[in-house]
Amino acid sequence: MIDSTKPIDYATLLNDTSGLKLSHLKSYTLKEIYIKEAENIANATLKYLSAQPTKKDTPFTYEWLLFLHKEMFGDVWEWAGKLRHNELSIGIKAYLVPMELKKLSDDIEYWNKNKTFDIYETAARIHHRAVQIHPFLNGNGRWSRMLANIYLRQNGSMPVKWQEDLLAKENPKRSDYILALKKADNGDYKDFIQMHTITY
Ligand SMILES: Nc1ncnc2c1ncn2[C@@H]1O[C@H](COP(=O)(O)OP(=O)(O)OP(=O)(O)O)[C@@H](O)[C@H]1O
Ligand SMILES: [Mg+2]
Repeated sequence: MIDSTKPIDYATLLNDTSGLKLSHLKSYTLKEIYIKEAENIANATLKYLSAQPTKKDTPFTYEWLLFLHKEMFGDVWEWAGKLRHNELSIGIKAYLVPMELKKLSDDIEYWNKNKTFDIYETAARIHHRAVQIHPFLNGNGRWSRMLANIYLRQNGSMPVKWQEDLLAKENPKRSDYILALKKADNGDYKDFIQMHTITY
């Protein structure tokens, strides 16, 4: 059960702790859950970002897109790597998610083959589309930023330092990030692409 009234993760309210894989003998604050998630995510960061990953390990296929979310959140949540079935305030209709996610993986393959965009723009477009689809109940932002970073690393660039712990509501950087995402929603990718060029 949640016993904190001060949520850290504001983007979608974590009002449903069913599916929490942590011990039921104790209650967890949102902060404690967030830390468990961060520990889980750290393993994925190590696997994919500490060195340039192979294309075989990061195929950007439909299955791998789901698998990555499972790797990031599977120690903490039962629904990690599983598509949502309910509507959220952000994201497309749940019934469209599988089709759109498949389309995204096909588009990534096409963009790579045809060198449609440079790697920063490709990373930004992957990130934007992924978070627009919002395939999962939660963790979509962290998963999308990881996708962008893996893409950059896979293609010889360094990852963006998103400062995960600082992506809370009070952080002015978060409003810049949301604003850039909203501009991208309207087809203006400039600011969002720019954010993907500020790497380590
Ligand atoms: N209007 C919006 N307000 C907040 N987030 C938005 C908005 N539009 C798109 N998003 C995206 O949705 C993400 C939040 O979704 P979700 O809560 O599933 O991800 P998270 O990983 O749990 O959270 P966070 O990104 O805050 O770490 C944001 O990071 C952002 O990428
Ligand atoms: Mg969230």
